[in-house]
Amino acid sequence: MTAGKFIVFEGIDGSGKTTQMKLLAQALEKRAMPVLCTREPGGTDIGTRLRELLLDPTCRDITHRTEAFLYAADRAQHVTEKIMPALRRGDTVLCDRFIYSTLAYQGGGRGLDREFLARLNDLATGGLEPDAVILLDLSVEESISRVLGDRFPDRLEAEKSDFFGQVRRGYLEQAAQWPRLFKVIQAGAVVEEVHRSVLVSLQQVLA
Ligand code: TMP
Repeated sequence: MTAGKFIVFEGIDGSGKTTQMKLLAQALEKRAMPVLCTREPGGTDIGTRLRELLLDPTCRDITHRTEAFLYAADRAQHVTEKIMPALRRGDTVLCDRFIYSTLAYQGGGRGLDREFLARLNDLATGGLEPDAVILLDLSVEESISRVLGDRFPDRLEAEKSDFFGQVRRGYLEQAAQWPRLFKVIQAGAVVEEVHRSVLVSLQQVLA
């Protein structure tokens, strides 16, 4: 049993998860709610090292299954070291990506078997599920122009647009499968408008 609420932000690269998570954290802190902002991969020291490996553009030989195991290893450490203790303390945990990224990227994008990934996710999390998933939905064209606009792409960002189309479909399929858990928000709108939609979609969860 946990006391705090667990909210996950998901979306393809460039969808604005990090910005929206920060805005939500500020809004909750104004209500004097204790908040932990964290992310996958890289929410712990071990995870930071795994993240470097996962996103390194020179690591071309990582197989799809190895990639899935490395994300799962990051997640296992993260759930035990950070997420569960915070939820037990009663903090609201805001997490930039979780198990749904594995289903969308390694499942939709890489084509790995969904049953295998669901099992892997379950082993990594011990069955922990969030109270809500905010899916920031963005077109692939906009995602690519946002990501490539400011810097050199990492190993995942350097994938082709077909890959991101499959990832996006992977997300939308999950949203259709779990309509009560997923809050789908149009991420192409201006930042403040997206923030307002996030607040509205979480009214019941955070009441
Ligand atoms: P970020 O850019 O949101 O920090 O995420 C890093 C990259 O890792 C992003 O391209 C998505 C990818 N990713 C997966 O492929 N599977 C996963 O399970 C997670 C958590 C992230």
